[in-house]
Amino acid sequence: MKALVLIGGFGTRLRPITYTVPKQLIPIAGKPLLYHVFDLLPPEVDEVVLATGYLSDAIAAHVRAHPLPIPIRPVPEATPLGTGGGMRNAGDDLSDPFLVFNSDVVADVDTSALIRLQDQRAGAGVMALYEVEDPSPYGVAVLGPDDRIERFVEKPERASAPSRWINAGVALWARSVLESIPRGVPVSFEREIVPGLLPQGVYGFRFSTFWEDAGTPTRLLNAQRLLFQHGRAAHRGRPPGALGSAQVAAASTARATGASFGDFVTLDEHAVVEPGAHLANCVVMAGATIEREASVIGSIVGPGARVRAGHRLQDGILGAAAEG
Ligand code: GDD
Ligand code: MG
Repeated sequence: MKALVLIGGFGTRLRPITYTVPKQLIPIAGKPLLYHVFDLLPPEVDEVVLATGYLSDAIAAHVRAHPLPIPIRPVPEATPLGTGGGMRNAGDDLSDPFLVFNSDVVADVDTSALIRLQDQRAGAGVMALYEVEDPSPYGVAVLGPDDRIERFVEKPERASAPSRWINAGVALWARSVLESIPRGVPVSFEREIVPGLLPQGVYGFRFSTFWEDAGTPTRLLNAQRLLFQHGRAAHRGRPPGALGSAQVAAASTARATGASFGDFVTLDEHAVVEPGAHLANCVVMAGATIEREASVIGSIVGPGARVRAGHRLQDGILGAAAEG
């Protein structure tokens, strides 16, 4: 079986970092968001196709340098084609059925069980669904008997949202679904294609452990917290000489002697945290420096950025090589 991962999109809500780093490569809980998506691949999958767009070269270079046991094949889009257009553009050699992942979600989905459900129901597809308080920023599914999806509305008004079960961004589709997507033009799969597939049978696969769309700074850090709390962090621990007993995932080249840590911190390659600095609930990207006595809380520090001695960065986002 093949899996397709959708990696277009500009990551506008994570600017300025996403001017140079695609959101999928921002490290949370010790590794890039994209690699937490790869953790959801079931053993049935023997190739991953990446539908890339914005900053596709950065994605291609990263996956070349950090391969999986199975091949990863990036297929770039010249212009953004949307979720449906991206599936169509990259989908020529997909299997029947194939898995599709949004690349900005963290989740606990048993994708092997999702495949088994598709085998039983034999409809157009199965979509993983998660229940949220406010479904209005997402695709919303109304379930009937046997969890068959009877209605699907992308981003409804909050007051008129027909249920609280949302498209979690993990699905399995029959190959024939690709043929219903026009080629070479922008298409929203969720708005323009999914409603028309419902008569063929599209089923919900409900799960409840954890889920987050990591598309904003707050949600990205919430996704990181969930990964730590559910034991999904890359187990790298604290750097030598760091203080505190918190949940930290630091690259082996990161330095933080004499710095103190609260929970849920990622330190990427060659990050430096000077003595007396304090970090909690944050991401410090490659080559960034947190100077003496500074504190970084609820924030994302971009690659090569610097937080000045004694400064406090709270709920902030610093772009590449910026100073704060
Ligand atoms: N290849 C390609 N081309 N991928 C794209 C494009 C494009 O033009 N536009 C977006 N993507 C990718 C994004 O990188 C992301 O991984 C995924 O498709 C979904 O796009 P988002 O822009 O993040 O959509 P959303 O979060 O507003 O809504 C989607 O995700 C929700 C769950 O997080 C929808 O699928 C909703 O139905 C869903 O509930
Ligand atoms: Mg999203």
